[in-house]
Amino acid sequence: MVCVDCHGEKPHADEDYDRHTARIACQTCHIPRTGGASAKDFTRWTQGSDGFYEPTTLRMEANETAPVYAWYNRSVVNTPSFIGPKGSREDNESRIYPFKMYEGKAYFDRKTGQLLAMDFALPMATGDTLAGIASAAGTSGIENFDPIPGWQTVYFGSSHLVTKEKALGCTSCHAPNGVLNFKALGYTDEEVRKLTSAEIYFDKMVLKQKEGW
Ligand code: HEC
Ligand code: HEC
Ligand code: HEC
Repeated sequence: MVCVDCHGEKPHADEDYDRHTARIACQTCHIPRTGGASAKDFTRWTQGSDGFYEPTTLRMEANETAPVYAWYNRSVVNTPSFIGPKGSREDNESRIYPFKMYEGKAYFDRKTGQLLAMDFALPMATGDTLAGIASAAGTSGIENFDPIPGWQTVYFGSSHLVTKEKALGCTSCHAPNGVLNFKALGYTDEEVRKLTSAEIYFDKMVLKQKEGW
């Protein structure tokens, strides 16, 4: 179920927000921060207070981290070193979405470059991760493999912590130090200059400022 199933394409009292929904996902403005597990080492497990081992994990507070923004047409790039969104500005099916960036360290096969599967039972009990790799290789009949640790970057979609009060407003994006890197997202220098000019939000924000007084 997605936002527009319940809210429709034009959920805002202010049409200046609705005009953005063709190219910017709801989540981009309404889920401005991320957090949680940001990196996990599956090659080195740590013993917990319950005696079981688990992958060593670096965690962030729920609101600690700024997302990464990327074009996404709801299809996925899946390579050994990167799993994340496919899309581009030129593709009309793509919108700008926020992603939580996550890095996982795992074993790759030196010979093929492919990620090796790991059974979790042995590492959980003893912390021996290579035994978990050997067990999984046995199950799938892989005989010649040479495990080396390496990092894989994964982008997760953000779908938690929807907010109205802290939603991104005009200046969050259109000020020169805004949260979007327009150039990296495919906008030309001339467009970036326009998109980061006070011209875009000045009158509106001055009006809001007056209302606030
Ligand atoms: C299952 C239906 C449903 C889905 C899916 C859904 N919402 Fe809602 N949303 C609601 C309802 C119902 C409310 C409460 C309406 C109210 O309080 O006026 C609400 C409230 C909100 C509000 C606060 C409105 C206010 O006036 O405070 C925002 C912002 C919002 N949703 C954004 C989103 C976004 C962004 C998504 C997708 C990530 C989403 N919603 C997905 C049903 C849904
Ligand atoms: C460009 C940023 C932006 C995008 C994209 C955006 N919103 Fe919002 N939205 C806001 C802001 C900011 C507010 C708070 C407005 C206010 O308080 O005046 C808001 C308010 C709302 C509200 C409360 C009603 C209102 O007008 O205050 C709902 C519901 C909502 N958004 C749902 C959505 C859904 C669903 C989508 C995707 C279809 C979406 N928004 C996309 C920025 C955005
Ligand atoms: C999440 C970031 C974000 C927020 C918040 C946001 N914008 Fe935008 N805005 C964009 C992007 C990205 C574009 C370019 C969209 C496209 O490619 O068509 C844009 C385009 C525009 C344009 C068209 C510029 C042109 O020359 O074509 C105007 C005007 C504009 N925004 C005004 C506003 C105003 C006013 C607000 C606050 C109510 C606002 N924006 C909030 C990201 C944002």
